[in-house]
Amino acid sequence: MKIDAAQGKPENFKTDLIVVGLFEKETHKNLDKALNDEIHSLIKAKEFTGEFGQTQLITTLNRIPAKKILLIGLGKTTDYSLEIIRRAAAISAKYVRNLGIKNFATNLQTLNLNKNILDRSQALVEGTLLGLYRFNKYVTQEREKIKEIESVTVIDPSEKNIAQIKKSIDTGRIIAEAVNYTRDLVNTPALEATPSYLANEAKKLKNVKVKVYGKKEIQKMGFGCLSAVSSGSSQEPKFIVIEYNSSKKGGLVLVGKGVCFDSGGLDLKPGQYMDNMKSDMAGAATVMGIMKALPQLKIKQRVIGLIPAAENMPGGSAFKPGDVITAYNKKTIEVTNTDAEGRLIMADALAYGEEQKPQMMVDIATLTGACIVALGYWAAGLFGDDKPCQKLQQAGEEVYERVWRMPMFKEYKSLIKSTMADMKNHDPSYDAGAIEAAFFLKSFVEKTPWAHLDIAGTGWFKEAKYYHPKGATGFGVRLILEFLRYFY
Ligand code: BES
Ligand code: ZN
Ligand code: ZN
Repeated sequence: MKIDAAQGKPENFKTDLIVVGLFEKETHKNLDKALNDEIHSLIKAKEFTGEFGQTQLITTLNRIPAKKILLIGLGKTTDYSLEIIRRAAAISAKYVRNLGIKNFATNLQTLNLNKNILDRSQALVEGTLLGLYRFNKYVTQEREKIKEIESVTVIDPSEKNIAQIKKSIDTGRIIAEAVNYTRDLVNTPALEATPSYLANEAKKLKNVKVKVYGKKEIQKMGFGCLSAVSSGSSQEPKFIVIEYNSSKKGGLVLVGKGVCFDSGGLDLKPGQYMDNMKSDMAGAATVMGIMKALPQLKIKQRVIGLIPAAENMPGGSAFKPGDVITAYNKKTIEVTNTDAEGRLIMADALAYGEEQKPQMMVDIATLTGACIVALGYWAAGLFGDDKPCQKLQQAGEEVYERVWRMPMFKEYKSLIKSTMADMKNHDPSYDAGAIEAAFFLKSFVEKTPWAHLDIAGTGWFKEAKYYHPKGATGFGVRLILEFLRYFY
């Protein structure tokens, strides 16, 4: 799909359809005049109120060069934000695609707000590309009936904005394509998206260094947790290391949970909870999406992406409740529940990550159902040290991938105390499951400033909403890219 910028106004730009955003009670004077007050009449008749998300199609019948206008309600001016641009862009682009129109123009970035033109047009491009995302690679019948948008033109009345808008189009596209890549990885069924598949996909990433460790190497390196979790599966585990700016020092280590399918293991999940467990590698997919975008965005820092990848399956060789296993840093763990597997494989990777001497570590994982109970689907749980947490909170507000800081009160630490090993992976008699998991991870980061994101709720949507389709959201890609670009 092509996206370009051009000088123009809705009343004089020639195109098949132009999207025009209107706040409540607003008419767009010049356009309305060209349309002989049609917008005004629609508002007067309460056909169109400008309520957020409302759409109204107008056929122009040669009154202006554009053949059709799609009005989209932007709601109250006081509620206006970059997120409103993203959502309006997504709603309108999908509406146009449904009409079967292939080329359209839009000017949702023109509206006045505190943000600069770069941010506004980037939001417009992101909303459009994220909103148009579909996962249909397995559909084989009647593919010719699938409607596609071919080109979008961002029009702006001011010629001097065009160069900046073009720049934002590039940035917005890089970021949105990274998110959509992450969504594809998460939506791909576990039958195909195995640890080896993730490793192969990682090897295809450009301008990064990729090293993949297989089953034997993982055992030899002392990754006892990753070995244990994968032992019930016929799929080999992989430990994937992706390095960007590898000649630099410091930087950020990112760790993503790559459980390609979480059946729960011998502590088998009941059917309804197993349903979406192909998405238990969303953290890993997020790290891959980020690593894909870094060279394209020319990020300055060194970033190392670490992905422990495994399937958690029951079986004759599976690890068992009661087992004691040894992590990479030699700490021993009593396994009280094989379904608390994410924290185990993350433990090995975090301990390995710290050896790389980064300035900061951030991990991202679909770690606990408890986090969904606490925060639902619109905020990820955030745990860890003040500095990385504050920066992630700031970045999250900016891109509207919001995070919510959770307490790590010392009283909760005893949840992972074991009498027979250095720690246990779960306390069956207690609540605060998301905090328990965070404390477990914390034991594997000794001195580096660290933050943990629990994306169990935000990584996967049961229903489509705004620019998120049903299924994988790609949560965390925009958040961490923003964090790297502006806050860290
Ligand atoms: N992958 C799950 C967490 C999860 C649940 C992610 C729902 C997405 C949606 C994780 O491995 C898990 O099973 N956690 C258990 C931990 C418990 C056994 C201590 C949970 O949260 O119930
Ligand atoms: Zn689990
Ligand atoms: Zn899991």
